Amino acid sequence: MSKKIASARISTSSSKLLQELNNSLPFDKVLYREDIEGSRAHAYMLAEQGIISKEDYAQIEQGLVEIYEEVEAGEFLLDGDDEDIHMAIEGRLTSKIGNAGKRLHTARSRNDQVALDFRLFVQKNTQKIANLLLENIATLIKVASENTNTLLPGMTHLQHAQPINFGFHMMAYASMFKRDYERFISSYERNNYSPIGCAALAGTPHPINRKTTAEKLGFKAPTLNCLDTVSDRDFALEILFNISTMMMHMSRLSEELILWSASEFKFVQLSDKHATGSSIMPQKKNPDIPELLRGKTGRVNGNLVALLTVMKGLPLAYNKDMQEDKEGVFDSVKTALLSLEVLNEMIGEMTVNVEQMEKACMIGHLSATDLADYLVKEVGIPFRDAYHITGNVVNVAEEKGVDISELSFEDLKAVDDRITEGVVVLLDNRASMNARISEGGTSSVRTQEQIDFLSSWLNKEKGE
Ligand code: ARG
Repeated sequence: MSKKIASARISTSSSKLLQELNNSLPFDKVLYREDIEGSRAHAYMLAEQGIISKEDYAQIEQGLVEIYEEVEAGEFLLDGDDEDIHMAIEGRLTSKIGNAGKRLHTARSRNDQVALDFRLFVQKNTQKIANLLLENIATLIKVASENTNTLLPGMTHLQHAQPINFGFHMMAYASMFKRDYERFISSYERNNYSPIGCAALAGTPHPINRKTTAEKLGFKAPTLNCLDTVSDRDFALEILFNISTMMMHMSRLSEELILWSASEFKFVQLSDKHATGSSIMPQKKNPDIPELLRGKTGRVNGNLVALLTVMKGLPLAYNKDMQEDKEGVFDSVKTALLSLEVLNEMIGEMTVNVEQMEKACMIGHLSATDLADYLVKEVGIPFRDAYHITGNVVNVAEEKGVDISELSFEDLKAVDDRITEGVVVLLDNRASMNARISEGGTSSVRTQEQIDFLSSWLNKEKGE
């Protein structure tokens, strides 16, 4: 026999199969903290408003605290056949304190209860993720500060393009994570309103005070419209989208770490902690950790699309379809927290192969644009002609089997006699990198400016 609610109307006990489909306790039991926290606030308000007696409230409060301790101690396992976490805890309370326990659900429905518990969970984890993002930004800034003079071939289409510095490259990711952080903070603010007191969908005739519960639970205020509150799950979609976007950034960084670890690049070396061996090839060191971070991005995207799909087309208000909102969020949150911790450690402990990066800058005539820019700026040649002349210079370098930066003044002059000696130093890769002094550019000076800006922003966010 299962414990099925709504037994006032439904007499037959539900089958095992129905229970298996219907019960959410196996997964929503992780919400026990939020459920108890919410019920304590609700009971407090009921007593304050004179809806339940002070005596009943005292019993409910003590009972809920005890249940919390029982769950924490592993004495109350939440593995019974209750339909969900809400019924499990209410059931336990009533078995402990009798009639007072049966009064807890006055002026409340599981519809606002679950909306509250889930929102508390999302808000709490939004903060945790945001804090971990700050840690990652700090680590990226640290690596960047150590490498504002480390040359790296900047690429477009995965082809060598222009010399940049490695610090500048790290700061690109730090900037992405800053926006990710701000996205989490802004959804936190937007969703910081209390759902409890909306009851089933329309509010309640009991003289409740939703401001009391909102304040007790740390929300800014009660939500505006009860029908909306029990119907929507956009707060859950927001954390899913925010996680997906953040993981997309992490996945691109991971992809670069994987490439950079390959023998063809050898730009970085991951610590042995973050690489594994092959079971058959003894010489191998595989970048499994960044590969997993890249792979996990797929599953969090799946969770986002799943909930978007569940919600589309549902009439207001609560529908049982919405019970499908939780597992994907639990999974994405867990994935995000773990991935951020791992990434932070991996970036902090990787070795940057400065020499390899700089050597790679000698492939691909990275400073060719500087020659064209010079011809335009200093010699007054129209850009299209300068582009053409530079192409000829690159051909000469190719024929000689050298990089454009290794050509002598005589080599250059032979291509076009308007070229003057001053250009030779400009073709040096470091000079080329440092020539990009426009705001947000790669020059060491501009990179340092970005580092300084983000460092003081970070200190402000951390409240230091
Ligand atoms: N277990 C449900 C969920 O997770 C909560 C119950 C909602 N209310 C209802 N009348 N079935 O969504």
